[in-house]
Amino acid sequence: MKSKNIKLAFLLIALMVTAGACKNSTAMKDTTFKQISPKEIQDNSVKMIADDWLLITAGDKDNFNMMTASWSTIGYLWGQAVVFIFVRPQRYTYEFMENSSYFTLTVFEEKYRDILQFCGTKSGRDYNKVKETGLKPLFTELGNVYYEQARLVIECEKIYADFLKEDAFIDKTIIENAYPNRDFHKMYVGKILNVWVKE
Ligand SMILES: Cc1cc2nc3c(=O)[nH]c(=O)nc-3n(C[C@H](O)[C@H](O)[C@H](O)COP(=O)(O)O)c2cc1C
Repeated sequence: MKSKNIKLAFLLIALMVTAGACKNSTAMKDTTFKQISPKEIQDNSVKMIADDWLLITAGDKDNFNMMTASWSTIGYLWGQAVVFIFVRPQRYTYEFMENSSYFTLTVFEEKYRDILQFCGTKSGRDYNKVKETGLKPLFTELGNVYYEQARLVIECEKIYADFLKEDAFIDKTIIENAYPNRDFHKMYVGKILNVWVKE
């Protein structure tokens, strides 16, 4: 009887420890990342987007693609934390953005600049970017892709999307500078579902 009680106590403790370990990671099994709220992101977002750059990844475990982006916004809209990203229709990633309900943004330390350079100049149509860069994909519980090398991961759900429209530009000089071929970006607003930082 006594040994049965001891076994039960051990089982209870094991269950409590497991529950505690999972508390901070609702959608990611990887313990090297800690979940934080969007309001706890420490980076200056202007600097992070413009200087560090982002990697946008869309698709699922079996078929995904990623590209570098430095035109983006992280903010608050319709009562929720959101990101805005802008993807030109000729990008291979665009097809994945169109076919996925979710996408991730990942941010890297300076030592991984080569990866971002590669993913920002080569297309997934021509290269296996994971193989070429050594990116190590990991998967959230929703099945979205992030990378072992990332220092910050933002998992998003698409909630609004539309192409930028020529008529809507008030500053028309932007059209000649950014869209001489009229290949206007599609803007996606993503609701931030989860944010993780490397511990
Ligand atoms: C620093 C940097 C920032 C970029 N920002 C964007 C962006 O915000 N939107 C976009 O459509 N392309 C952007 N690009 C270009 C794409 O990353 C690039 O065309 C990439 O090769 C597309 O890959 P894919 O065809 O596999 O999707 C950027 C490239 C670099 C190097």
